[in-house]
This record gives sequence, structure tokens and C-alpha cells, in this order.
Amino acid sequence: MGVPIKEHPGRAILVMMEKFCNLTGLSTSNILVVVLDRRRAWRSLHATKFTEHTARILLQVYGTVFHMNQGNPFKLKALVDKWPDFNTVVIRPQEQEMTDELDHYTNTYQVYSKDPKKCQEFLGLPEVINWKQHLQIQSTQSSLDDVIKNLAALKLGKVKQTQCLLYMVSELGKKMANSLLDAKNPSPNDNKFKSIHQKILQLSSLDPSHDALVNTFWYFGGNERSQRFIERCIKTFPNWCLLGPEGTPVSWVLMDQTGEMRMAGTMPKYRRQGLITYLSYIQTQALNKLGFPMYSHVDRANHIMQKLALNMKNIRMPCDWNQWNFLP
Ligand SMILES: CC(C)(COP(=O)(O)OP(=O)(O)OC[C@H]1O[C@@H](n2cnc3c(N)ncnc32)[C@H](O)[C@@H]1OP(=O)(O)O)[C@@H](O)C(=O)NCCC(=O)NCCS
Repeated sequence: MGVPIKEHPGRAILVMMEKFCNLTGLSTSNILVVVLDRRRAWRSLHATKFTEHTARILLQVYGTVFHMNQGNPFKLKALVDKWPDFNTVVIRPQEQEMTDELDHYTNTYQVYSKDPKKCQEFLGLPEVINWKQHLQIQSTQSSLDDVIKNLAALKLGKVKQTQCLLYMVSELGKKMANSLLDAKNPSPNDNKFKSIHQKILQLSSLDPSHDALVNTFWYFGGNERSQRFIERCIKTFPNWCLLGPEGTPVSWVLMDQTGEMRMAGTMPKYRRQGLITYLSYIQTQALNKLGFPMYSHVDRANHIMQKLALNMKNIRMPCDWNQWNFLP
């Protein structure tokens, strides 16, 4: 265990992360990468540097690795099929984290493959994906759909795909998007926010006890397990909220273990008054300073959040945000 990646000159592991690393200056990562080698024996390596050539389609993998690099609070590990010339990367929780067979919020895998048609064998291995559990697979590669559906059929389970729009949020991400779009920093609709609420709302961060509130408004939530997941995100990652006169949140923004900004909400009474715009601005500014890679997904039917993304000058990516939910 612990073969430093730099001992593989010329062909660094995960060629895909290079540009991101150059931009972030990531250099002292201590990421556990597990490789299934030709003899099908697992080897562990500590990567010192990740490189990249297709940044557009591996946001979730990159965002997750970023957080692994910051103390790995969700206790994840990265698996690759070959070393050093890998085809597929899977990021997943370590086995000891996956104790609840029904908890697909925890049993979440991020997948990136250079050749999605050739990753079925790897994804089918029980050491890579535990198909006996309720789980979800996230990827920005819609082309994984066939492989995942084939595997679901082989494992005699059911799979449902959710496909949403994907946006780059961070300055880093925008640079990566190599877009000609105007990516100037937006500013919040300050006048609107100030005139209405400056005196009665207080900028703060969520407390873990606010998990139930966030859970009520989260599209993917509304159950006990999603509430646990939200509580963990609140405890682990920076988040922001506005407290109302009663001292409870009236608007909030969070992020998850993949670096995605999600689970935003505003209480119905306070909507359409610029609160999420204001918090998104605060969140983006703060996380940009910390060098976080940030992205978000928006449901095709959620025109309000699409408007927000447009106002915030977030960059709509040419690929989608995908999530496959599997039931054995
Ligand atoms: C989506 C949601 C978070 C927006 O919060 P909000 O505080 O009302 O948002 P803002 O007031 O900052 O509005 C953002 C933009 O959308 C527009 N907008 C907000 N509500 C709108 C509505 N009902 N119809 C049309 N436009 C609307 C605003 O006018 C603003 O655009 P503008 O600055 O160009 O005028 C809130 O409606 C909500 O909690 N919805 C349910 C949960 C959800 O969908 N969460 C997001 C996905 S996880």
C-alpha cells in the first residue's frame, strides 16, 4: 500500500484531472486510489497529482476528489480498472460506510469512463459496485445509460434514470468550460434584497437541526434517509442561510460530497424576493475564494432555478447531469 503516484513517470494516474490541478495548484493530495490490476488484485496508491483532459464531463468525479483531498469527510475511495492506463474511474464510499442496504443517498457512486462501451465488466464487479444494495450512480456521461441498463437487467433489478441540466458555477469551472460567454462575476440584486429584508433577515449558516426543514423542500428528499444525508452535508460542508424574525431559516443553500451546490430552498412566504439570488452570490463568492470546484444541476422543468443560473452567469454545459437509481 502507499505507492506514490510520482513513481509512475510519464503517465500520471487519472490523466483527466490535469487542467483542474494546474488551476487549483493541487499538489499535496493524499487520495486513496485503488487499482484492480491484471492479476485482479487490489493495490492502493496515494496520488499526488491528478491530471485531466476532458474536464467538461467529469465534474462529479473531480468535485468528489477535491473533497477527498480535503480530509475525505465522506470516507470515499477511488477505484480505477487499470493502472496507469485506466479506462474507468469509480468513486464510492468505503465498505464500512455502506451499512444500510436501503440508503441510496450514502450508497452513491460517481463514474467516469473514457470508453463507456467498455466499462460494463468493471462496473459489474461486486467489489466495484455492490448491486445487492439500493444505490445511485451519478455521471455526466449520458452514454453510460446502456451499460447501466444492461447491468441492471443482469443483476435482476430495476433502474430509473434522472437527467437534468448541468451548470458550471465556479470561476475555476468557468475557465475549464473554455467558454466565450460573458462570465463576469454577477452581483446580487442588492437593492431588491436590501429594501425588503435587510432589517429583518440575518445571514447565518444552517444548524444540523435544520435538516428536517431542508428535507421538506428537497426534490430528492422527504424521507428519513435523505434527512440523514442532509444532516451530514450540513455538518460537513460550508452552507448559508437567512434567518427570519423567529430565528429559523427562511432561505438556504447547501452543497454535497461531490462539490455540487444543491438542496436550495426558500420558504413559500419569502419567495420571489431575491433571497436565493443573494445567498447563491454569497456562496459562490466564498467558495471561489476557497478554490472549490462548483457546479449545479437543474431540473428541466424548474424554470426559476434556470433563471437564477442565467442571472448568475453560470455556464450551461453541453453534457447532462445524470443519476441512475437502482433497486435490486
Ligand atoms: C426555487 C427557489 C429556491 C427560488 O427561491 P427564491 O428566493 O424565491 O428566488 P429569487 O427570489 O432569488 O428568484 C430568482 C429568480 O427567479 C425568479 N422567480 C422566482 N420565483 C418565480 C416565480 N414563481 N415565477 C417566475 N419567476 C420567478 C425571480 O424573479 C428571480 O429572477 P430576477 O432576479 O431576474 O427577477 C424557491 O422557489 C423554492 O424553494 N422552490 C422549491 C424548492 C426548489 O425548487 N429548490 C431548488 C432546487 S433544489
